[in-house]
Amino acid sequence: MANDPRIEHLRKLKSEALLGGGEARIETQHKKGKLTARERIDLLLDEGSFEEIDMLVRHQTREFGLDKHRYFGDGVVTGHGTIDGRRVFVFSQDFTVLGGSLSEAYGKKICKIMDLALKNGTPVIGLNDSGGARIQEGVVSLGAYADIFLRNTLASGVVPQISVVLGPCAGGAVYSPAITDFVFMVKNHSHMFVTGPNVVKTVTHEEVSFEELGGAYTHASKSGVAHVISDSEVELLDGVRDMFQYIPQNNLDDPISIECDDDPNRMDEDLNTIIPENPNKPYDVKDIINRVFDNGKFFEIHEHYAKNIVVGFARLNGSPLGIVANQPAFLAGVLDINSSIKAARFVRFCDAFNIPLVTLVDVPGFLPGTDQEWRGIIRNGAKLLYAFCEATVPKVTLILRKAYGGAYDVMNSKHIRADVNLAWPSAEIAVMGPQGAVEIIFRKEIAEAEDPKKALDEKVRQYRETFANPYIAAERGYLDDVIEPSQTRPKLVLALEMSRNKVDRNPKKKHGNIPL
Ligand code: HXC
Repeated sequence: MANDPRIEHLRKLKSEALLGGGEARIETQHKKGKLTARERIDLLLDEGSFEEIDMLVRHQTREFGLDKHRYFGDGVVTGHGTIDGRRVFVFSQDFTVLGGSLSEAYGKKICKIMDLALKNGTPVIGLNDSGGARIQEGVVSLGAYADIFLRNTLASGVVPQISVVLGPCAGGAVYSPAITDFVFMVKNHSHMFVTGPNVVKTVTHEEVSFEELGGAYTHASKSGVAHVISDSEVELLDGVRDMFQYIPQNNLDDPISIECDDDPNRMDEDLNTIIPENPNKPYDVKDIINRVFDNGKFFEIHEHYAKNIVVGFARLNGSPLGIVANQPAFLAGVLDINSSIKAARFVRFCDAFNIPLVTLVDVPGFLPGTDQEWRGIIRNGAKLLYAFCEATVPKVTLILRKAYGGAYDVMNSKHIRADVNLAWPSAEIAVMGPQGAVEIIFRKEIAEAEDPKKALDEKVRQYRETFANPYIAAERGYLDDVIEPSQTRPKLVLALEMSRNKVDRNPKKKHGNIPL
């Protein structure tokens, strides 16, 4: 059989397919500092685990000379493999074939693996590097995009979907990554925009570079489109593997717990003094996160966006969880439009995929001002409230310091179905901060006082003594316990242990109407 010409023929076809658009174009790709579609798959998946599907697919288009450019695979490598032994479906766009542009055949390949992923409850990871719709195919290519968008939407909340953008991703093509759960981008090489710098210049007369308009840092810091960014493709793909440890295969599965070598009963005396004496002084909530969760490991999502709230994955006693924490080190940890949207989307991901939530609260309230009001802090703040209310996963809350006004309710309070609510003795829970409160309720008295400044200070002191503590909430059972900060790790471990088998449901409905 060794010299069977049919086998020789098959081998020839396959080795041709492995070269995508050919050696010269692979070289051009490398010269740009980019990896090829196949090199990326090799880095993403466990060694030797990739099983390709549709390697021999070719397009059927004849127009504009395309019949002379019929590459095996047609510009996208699809298949499945494993990450740390767990199966994933992957598509990797091959820029060396007609600029990775999307054709009918190419779209069908992606849809085929998405259908398999949905049927088998397996995550999908898309590696994007494409010039967009294959211009020569016209509306057929647009239709193929829409076929993918539909599947992205139907798979949302059923299997995790991750988009890694490693080259151009422009026009309507951006909407596939946009529907997926997480977007990863690499600096200098990935660009996402609905219209590029030239169209922007024509329409709005703005001069803007590719990187500034739609580069990784822009989308990580300004638009919030990118959840994770990196300086290199290698680091970025490693980041995908890293995040993958925290998420389950599908919505019926639980995330994987691992053996934990960090003592679940570990106490930390330094936490007793981590909150500054002065309640207006900032501190970095990530210092608390790093001290409490397993081995100080935290996979942060949206690190550069809406820094006044911190979200990401960690583990407690080996079990994955999602953390939502106000960040006093940035804008005093206030809730505004962007931080509400950022946290709401994260909460919904965790809830969809059975990942318990731990919420760390230090929030002075919602950000005042015309900018916030006119851009819809009501509508957007409601997203976070809605997301926490709707979530049925185990929910644990720890109030570190401030929990004022509506933000107290929103940040996973007992009233919206949190399972365990704890506070440190430094917690201050009230309708509003002391200064603002006494200026309203004692306005007349202070104005008429002999020494208004002294009267104000005295009222603030009284208010603080009465309300700026956790004990009124504890008396009513809104808090299950007030704990010593040093006990935080064992208490959170226990809270999650207790609620591990929680069953809670929302009323039967087609879907809710989250304030979008
Ligand atoms: C067909 C394409 C293509 C496309 C690139 N190529 N984009 N072929 N359809 N959309 C081909 C080029 O002709 C070229 O072929 C090869 O890919 C490499 O492209 P270069 O231009 O040489 O590469 P580079 O200089 O790196 O520039 C990359 C690029 C540029 C910025 C992506 O190619 C570009 O602007 N392409 C067009 C992008 C675009 O406008 N697409 C349509 C967007 S609208 P040869 O044979 O010369 O090597 C859209 C709508 C989607 O996508 C809607 C979904 C609902």
